Amino acid sequence: MTPLLQLSGLDKRFGQVVVAEALDLAVAEGEAVGIVGPNGAGKSSLFAMVSGDLKPDAGRVAFDGEDVTSRPAHQRCRAGIGRTYQVPRPFEGMTVFENVLVSASQGGGLHGRAAQQQAAEVLAECGLAGAANQRAGSLSLLQRKRLEVARGLATGPKLLLLDEVAGGLTEPEVLELVELIGRVKARGVAVVWIEHVVHALVKSVDRLLCLAGGRFIADGDPATVLADPQVLELYFGSGPEAVTIPDEEPAGGPAEGGAPASQSLPAAPGEEAAR
Ligand SMILES: Nc1ncnc2c1ncn2[C@@H]1O[C@H](COP(=O)(O)OP(=O)(O)OP(=O)(O)O)[C@@H](O)[C@H]1O
Ligand SMILES: [Mg+2]
Repeated sequence: MTPLLQLSGLDKRFGQVVVAEALDLAVAEGEAVGIVGPNGAGKSSLFAMVSGDLKPDAGRVAFDGEDVTSRPAHQRCRAGIGRTYQVPRPFEGMTVFENVLVSASQGGGLHGRAAQQQAAEVLAECGLAGAANQRAGSLSLLQRKRLEVARGLATGPKLLLLDEVAGGLTEPEVLELVELIGRVKARGVAVVWIEHVVHALVKSVDRLLCLAGGRFIADGDPATVLADPQVLELYFGSGPEAVTIPDEEPAGGPAEGGAPASQSLPAAPGEEAAR
């Protein structure tokens, strides 16, 4: 079956900085994929090339069976690619409802009542119904992160790209987000989630990739990737003994494949940017 998203031979560099080098990635319909990698690895740049915000130097982006490499971002959004931004970018002076309504109408192509209904449903799903009439600029970090997800969802995506939506949140807030992403997945939406809060990813994804220096250095089930010596070296600069695994098992039990869901990478280096 043709993958929903297919990246082939993507190259991108900024001067000497290589953010993608002959990068290939296939994401199936309804699949949930996690991406980890050190700061500056090229993770957000990869999303930008998928969503149409950044033009690759070479390579091809295919979505839903069509080559979208030269299509602008708004067309890719209409085709079903929804995304969040690492640093939330709501229209600060507009209400939460208006922000999501813009996504449903401009991004999702809905009109009138249909757009309003979509916006209301997404706000309820994202736990923002109570904040619908608040100005987006007045939201807390958790609410801003939820609004990012809501704006992405309101476009009616087949693929949702999440860029560090858990960064900076408290543990209970992260768990709320994991539940929300679980509901999105259950609707058949494919998810690609870049995240430094690895235990959230492990609970949510079928497959984990590690990006470093513009290349995927590991790709497989989350437990295997998190035990990969190259991945450990990148994050800890030493062997597996550096990984802290709390004694108690978190609610929901261990992740498939035996990885402790509470296993986490060190203080997320990229989270500062998301604050
Ligand atoms: N528009 C740009 N112009 C020049 N350099 C850029 C641009 N965008 C990104 N870069 C550089 O490319 C590299 C990769 O950036 P990117 O934001 O994709 O990394 P990342 O993996 O998302 O990192 P983080 O975990 O910190 O979010 C960084 O060195 C960054 O400074
Ligand atoms: Mg980033």
